[in-house]
Amino acid sequence: MTEAQKTFADQKRKTVETAEFTEDGRYKRKVRSFVLRTGRLSDFQKNMMNDHWADLGLDYQNAPFDFAAIYGNSNPVILEIGFGMGKSLVDMAEANPDKNYLGIEVHTPGVGACIAYAVEKGVKNLRVICHDATEILRDCVKDGELGGLQLFFPDPWHKAKHHKRRIVQPHFVEQVVQKLQPNGFIHMATDWENYAEQMLEVLSANENLVNTAEKDYIPRPDFRPLTKFEVRGHRLGHGVWDLYFKKK
Ligand SMILES: C[S@@+](CC[C@H](N)C(=O)[O-])C[C@H]1O[C@@H](n2cnc3c(N)ncnc32)[C@H](O)[C@@H]1O
Repeated sequence: MTEAQKTFADQKRKTVETAEFTEDGRYKRKVRSFVLRTGRLSDFQKNMMNDHWADLGLDYQNAPFDFAAIYGNSNPVILEIGFGMGKSLVDMAEANPDKNYLGIEVHTPGVGACIAYAVEKGVKNLRVICHDATEILRDCVKDGELGGLQLFFPDPWHKAKHHKRRIVQPHFVEQVVQKLQPNGFIHMATDWENYAEQMLEVLSANENLVNTAEKDYIPRPDFRPLTKFEVRGHRLGHGVWDLYFKKK
């Protein structure tokens, strides 16, 4: 690759995390919830990412974002982690102009596709980030600032030896709760029963959250557009479990 070809999108394909080191200067290996796949980034997706980043993209920074300045209003900010190709996220942003959406995804073709669809739809209340969401939550979001968190069909890491890579863990939920406003929501959906049970257990154990479901799970809500992975799950004959909790 020549110097001129090394674009912003190309850089994002190499790293989506900030390097951390041990006290004796060695690179710290982290347990990540994703594998950086090098699936093909089309020229179209790459150009959309490079051309529209100034309007629709945000970069990791070692300080909290000023959401009022970013979105130009003080509407609630809804964070979606792992938006995939972003279609359902853009559809939700279009359907809810009174909310601001912040989508995080590490897969660059998805980021490019999401930006392309957002441009096509002309949505203004959406920003996307291409970085590990756990670092964004930790470093870039002030406590009590989020109106809600959406996590739709996170990677199930179905082998028991990989369960530690699942993003839904007590410390993750603890961090999300810290970033939520009072009454803010956590909405998760999965097509893996065993992950649904883990989500239910971890969310129920957090004393600052209340389950809004009559019993464990809510019926599939109309306001959640069908996602690519949900369609795939249906094809494989999987069920779908939605969890909707609120912060006290
Ligand atoms: C199974 S896919 C689901 C995508 C989409 N929500 C859907 O339902 O079609 C999970 C996505 O989460 C992303 N992901 C996993 N861990 C992440 C993290 N820590 N930060 C940002 N994205 C992450 C993956 O790259 C992947 O695209």
